[in-house]
Amino acid sequence: MSIHKEEVKSALSQVLHPTYSKDLITLGLVQDLITQDKYISFTLELPKKDDQLASKLKKDCEKAVKKFIDPEAVVDITIGINISKQRELEGNGGDDQQQQQKKEQQVLSGVKNVIAVASGKGGVGKSTIAANLAVSIAQTGAKVGLLDTDIYGPSIPTMFGVSERPNITTQKKLVPIKKHGVHLVSMGFLVDTDQAMIWRGPMVTSAVKQFMQEVEWGELDYLILDLPPGTGDIQLTIVQTVPLTGAVVVSTPQNVALDDARKGVAMFGKVNVPVLGIIENMAYFVPEDMPEKKYYIFGKHGARNLAKKLEVPFLGEVPLRDNVRKTSDSGTPIVADDPTSASGICLKEIANRVQQTLAIRNKEQGETEKIDIKIRP
Ligand SMILES: Nc1ncnc2c1ncn2[C@@H]1O[C@H](COP(=O)(O)OP(=O)(O)OP(=O)(O)O)[C@@H](O)[C@H]1O
Ligand SMILES: [Mg+2]
Repeated sequence: MSIHKEEVKSALSQVLHPTYSKDLITLGLVQDLITQDKYISFTLELPKKDDQLASKLKKDCEKAVKKFIDPEAVVDITIGINISKQRELEGNGGDDQQQQQKKEQQVLSGVKNVIAVASGKGGVGKSTIAANLAVSIAQTGAKVGLLDTDIYGPSIPTMFGVSERPNITTQKKLVPIKKHGVHLVSMGFLVDTDQAMIWRGPMVTSAVKQFMQEVEWGELDYLILDLPPGTGDIQLTIVQTVPLTGAVVVSTPQNVALDDARKGVAMFGKVNVPVLGIIENMAYFVPEDMPEKKYYIFGKHGARNLAKKLEVPFLGEVPLRDNVRKTSDSGTPIVADDPTSASGICLKEIANRVQQTLAIRNKEQGETEKIDIKIRP
């Protein structure tokens, strides 16, 4: 006889979550329950990533099912991470926490779209692309913010030529600095990067969270996040902290970068954030004295082919050119400095595609309010 769902629920109501001292059924953490003969499968939705707790709860669930229902039952548990659950559960945890949650929810309430610019590998041009995307989109008349979350190596102050410190409102909120039409905030405005080098992951992520809460973004059509390189815990926490509308992944064409870009795409897949597409940077080299030549020094179409393979949109390629580097170094992104140059045109086309892809995404899925974030390892 097939095991009944109600029997499973009753067995799992004997398993306590150690943090909330309530059982998994009362907390509403068991989802997608399926039973067939002796096979039971469900998703255990945890409010945050915690491998140790996940494996303990998995074991406890299995034990409860075998003890209360059938010792031969086969239990298949998927761990899902649902951040909004954390708010729900911790909502009972006192006024301070409630206020903190309210504060977090309000942070980006005036922001319509949040786009992360990520890569697996460092130095592939994320910040360059993020800066040019932000300026290009602002040039279309949209209100755009850019948040540089790279605490170890913030590049946005240099790329925008900003050396001043931001103002603070009477409510102790940070006012973004407006440059080239973009409202900017960088970790580099506030944190001494030499000191930040010794910060550990949790310090970085809590600084980013605080940052999100303490900036007076106001109304924005787009907020672009320049992420630190990699796909580790820091990046994962950032993308889980912010209600992302979508992400773009930057890669150069060679295999070592593509392997990491693949990890980047997978990271967003895990947390249910749509990948708007892949951008191929440094796609080919164009010498300044022979602008008609293209040298595919890192291989040809690597990122384009990866996009095809992963079935995500390809958003375009940017050549490796001296004027891209020079304009970044001198504080005026090329789409502002020389928008009609070949590189400027490529970057503006990419920004256009990002906006279009986002519009389609919003039409299909509705405007972003809060994305439920799930990790299915
Ligand atoms: N298409 C390009 N042509 C020429 N130079 C480029 C191009 N893209 C980026 N660069 C240069 O390469 C260097 C690294 O770029 P950038 O800082 O944008 O990379 P990143 O991925 O943000 O690096 P990190 O991983 O350290 O954050 C910079 O000096 C930048 O000016
Ligand atoms: Mg960078």
